[in-house]
Amino acid sequence: MAIILDGKKLRDEILADLKAEVDGFKTEPKLVVILVGDDPASKIYVNNKKKKAQQVGIDSEIINYPSDISETALLEKIKELNNDDSVHAILVQLPLPEHISESKVIESISAKKDVDGFTPYNFGKLFSGAKPYVYPCTPKGILLLLDKYNIEIEGKHAVVIGRSNIVGKPVAQMLLNRNATVTVCHSHTKNLADITKTADIIVSAVGKNIIKGEMLKSDCVIVDVGIFKDENGKLRGDVDFDSSSKIASYISPVPGGVGPMTITSLMLNTVELFKLQNEN
Ligand code: GUN
Repeated sequence: MAIILDGKKLRDEILADLKAEVDGFKTEPKLVVILVGDDPASKIYVNNKKKKAQQVGIDSEIINYPSDISETALLEKIKELNNDDSVHAILVQLPLPEHISESKVIESISAKKDVDGFTPYNFGKLFSGAKPYVYPCTPKGILLLLDKYNIEIEGKHAVVIGRSNIVGKPVAQMLLNRNATVTVCHSHTKNLADITKTADIIVSAVGKNIIKGEMLKSDCVIVDVGIFKDENGKLRGDVDFDSSSKIASYISPVPGGVGPMTITSLMLNTVELFKLQNEN
């Protein structure tokens, strides 16, 4: 039976240390989250971020715009936040409505306030193997979780399923930077099971139930990033937990695995950017 990669436990440990550090600051770090529209899932994520920030001693503000806000107005607001010295970290919740260019919005965020690590500066640093100001939250949380359980990455075959800019691409690059042999699979990949059967580490970030025990190599490590509600309204991940946990050596649950680690990384990143902006 696989060992559970317990994201909640690690979150609580990391955030307790972070709170102690933040308590020693003269001023509060401030995170601003911009949410466009009223997607219920996004609203829950954003409110969870605010709650955690409060617990750690980070000031946070949620700016909620209607889904028909113009791209120009959103870009204006980001410019204002870039120039506001009381704001240290900016997050624009994705996805955005279709009439707004995600890349334009991301590119408008100052790299030093880019708490997601998504701007061309930070992404470029990451992909060239250099150090960005901060690493994207979910990938960073995944590596914190693997490291906590002393899971070796160097020389291992890591299979990443999903190639989004939020998770798949940056986590693949971070694993590569740690000397894993990385395969990235996606919706056009043929014979997925042939590839997953050779994986030492699987990171699945698809949002569909695609991984079953019979697709796994014995003692592999599974990180399940997917989260969605099934037809009965139950929260599920990409991985069939019952069959997979019999084969794998470690597995992250949904909920309680990667989700808490993403929020943890967001808090860590906010504090890192706060310190960066207080350096000079
Ligand atoms: N939507 C889903 N995950 C994320 C994330 O990590 N950052 C942002 N900005 N939007 C998201």
